[in-house]
Amino acid sequence: MTTQGELDDQLEAAVQVLKIAERVCVLTGAGVSAESGVPTFRDSNGLWEGHRVEDVASPEGFERNPALVWKFYNARRENASRVTPNPGHYALAEMEKRWGDRFTLVTQNVDGLHLEAGSENVLEIHGSLRHTRCLGCGVVTNRGVEPLGDAPQCPQCHGRLRPDIVWFGEGLPDGIWSAAMQAAYECHVLLVVGTSAVVYPAASLIPIAKRGAVTPAKVIEVNMTRTDASDNADIGLYGPSGVILPKLVERLK
Ligand code: APR
Repeated sequence: MTTQGELDDQLEAAVQVLKIAERVCVLTGAGVSAESGVPTFRDSNGLWEGHRVEDVASPEGFERNPALVWKFYNARRENASRVTPNPGHYALAEMEKRWGDRFTLVTQNVDGLHLEAGSENVLEIHGSLRHTRCLGCGVVTNRGVEPLGDAPQCPQCHGRLRPDIVWFGEGLPDGIWSAAMQAAYECHVLLVVGTSAVVYPAASLIPIAKRGAVTPAKVIEVNMTRTDASDNADIGLYGPSGVILPKLVERLK
C-alpha cells in the first residue's frame, strides 16, 4: 500500500524525468479503460464473458465457429459504443500536446478510447474493435460500432470478414509493431499504464526502452498494483490511472 507521502515523492520524481525527456513513449493496457467500465482480462479466470479465450480469440476458434466469434465481438463492439474515455485517457491526450510528434502512445487496447479522447499518435498494436479485415481481399475497413451480424461479408469482394484484432497465436501487424519498437527504443521516458505486462511481444517494449538508442529510458509504472513490469520500473505510481495521470499532467504545467 502506497502512502500519500510516498505517492507525492514518486509523482515529483516522475515530473523531473519527464521535464527533461525529449521523447516519450507510453504503453497502455486494459487498466487504463477500467474506470470507463471496460473489463480487464486477467481477472476473469481465463473466461471472456463466459467463453473460453481459445474459442473466441484465436484463428482456430474462428474456423470452428465464426458465428460465435462474431456474436462475442458484436457484443464487445456494442459495449464500446456505450463507454466513454475517462480522465486517464484525457490526461494522456493532454500530455501529447507537450511533445507533439515526439510522443507515441502504444496501446494493447482495442476499444478506441485513446483516439476518442483526442490522442493522435496512437499505435493500436492489437488491432481495433471498429475495424474488420476481409479474408478474401485483405482490405481493412473502419466499420465503427454498427451491428455486423454473425456472418458479415466484404462489401467489395463478398469475402468473409473477421474482426481486425490480433488473436492468441497470431503475429502483430508488421508496420505498427516496428513503429512501436522504434518509439520505445528512442524514448527517454516510457510510461507503462494499466497493463499486467505478461503478454508478449507487447511487454518486450519495456526491456527495449531500457536498452535505449541513446541512454536507457526511465520507466514509470502507473497501476493499481505491482506487476511483471515493476522490477524494471524506476518510478512506481500505484493507484487508479484516472486519478494518477491527471495529477501528473497538472504537475507538469
Ligand atoms: N488504473 C490502473 N491500472 C489498473 C486499473 C486502474 N483503474 N484497473 C486495473 N488496472 C491494472 C491491473 O492491476 C492489471 O495490472 O490493469 C492491468 C490489467 O491487466 P490485464 O487484464 O492483463 O490487461 P492487459 O495487460 O492489457 O492485457 C494484455 O492480453 O488478452 C490479451 O490482447 C489482450 O491486449 C490484451 C493483452
